[in-house]
Amino acid sequence: MWKVQLFKLNYDAQESEAVKDVVDSGWITMGEKTKEFESKFSNMLGNNIYATAVSSGTASLHMALLGLGIGSGDEVIIPALTFVADINVVKMVGATPVLADCSSYSNWNISAETIKTQITPKTKAVVVVHYGGYPCEMDKIVTLCKRRGLYLIEDVAHAPDAKYKGKACGTFGDYGCFSFFTNKNLSVGEGGMLITKNKQLAKRAREFRSHGMSALTLDRHRGRAISYNVSNVGLNYRIDEMRSAIGLVQLKKLKDANRKRGYLVDRYIKKLSSIKEISIPFQNIKNIEPVYHIFPILLSPNIDRVWLINRLKRVGIQSSIHYPIFKEFTAFKDLNLNSAPIAEDIARRELTLPLYPTMSFSDIDYISDSLSKILEKEVV
Ligand SMILES: Cc1ncc(COP(=O)(O)O)c(C=O)c1O
Repeated sequence: MWKVQLFKLNYDAQESEAVKDVVDSGWITMGEKTKEFESKFSNMLGNNIYATAVSSGTASLHMALLGLGIGSGDEVIIPALTFVADINVVKMVGATPVLADCSSYSNWNISAETIKTQITPKTKAVVVVHYGGYPCEMDKIVTLCKRRGLYLIEDVAHAPDAKYKGKACGTFGDYGCFSFFTNKNLSVGEGGMLITKNKQLAKRAREFRSHGMSALTLDRHRGRAISYNVSNVGLNYRIDEMRSAIGLVQLKKLKDANRKRGYLVDRYIKKLSSIKEISIPFQNIKNIEPVYHIFPILLSPNIDRVWLINRLKRVGIQSSIHYPIFKEFTAFKDLNLNSAPIAEDIARRELTLPLYPTMSFSDIDYISDSLSKILEKEVV
């Protein structure tokens, strides 16, 4: 149906073989592959990092809030422009979400300045999201959180291996939460990783992941344990061996795939910069090494976004929106969420164009030329 779809998996025979090997091994629940995935993933990010592979990015965010003891009576500052998982988990633990606005129209991430205005005596934590794979200005955010005694959680769903001042995103705060959902830079279908440098927080993460049990099924299978203790309450947020095996293959491909995304974005910028009805955020930001998870553009206010999406669809180009604002969802109508004017305006005008590492320059040229023609109303 699509000439260029929004996202395509960067898979080949290696992923299939990895799954087959696991199935053939006879051990499919969390075990050695998961350990290897955790170890290689944390090595990519730096030294002395504890990584806990889990069933989704949302699970990792939920575990981070639980691990920090956040609950009823606490406020958690989250970006106004992000995926619904960030607000859902805050609500799920009984805390109150408070929204921080985007830094500006050219940098859609939250900043120390936009966080600071939302801090109250009840604020317990800040969740930052490295939107689109573009790192937030972490040194100022870390300083602010330290000074005000706030926990810092990084939602790194868009940014595996992105860096701020040479340091990996996810390693700045108390917990870093990664997603390996299908459309992510590292995709296993459903999966995630919770990382921390704090041994105690890592221990809690392990407990939450697997019912608070002191021994895994694998330990009992191998005869390393006969029974187990339940040291704390927990959930079942485990990943399985098939997904960890895919994760290992995807991890090997990640740096190269992220680099290719960068070349494609450069091409987009070159092709689109002359179209006056659109602007491209996150250009010329200092100190960052982005990983280009999505390619968002901002339409000028006179463009009807639904009209444009439908016109693009007619010529076989899939597009999307990142993100609708929370206030418009039924679940959050009675929350009385604070306003975030820049994020709300961006949310109404943002359009996401296709981006994935196996795309070609001619795909980009086709999208850019189509967009240009449509906006000149040549294609009806
Ligand atoms: C910014 C952000 N946070 C959290 C998530 C949740 O991750 P998952 O779908 O793995 O639960 C996603 C993506 O789906 C996301 O884009």
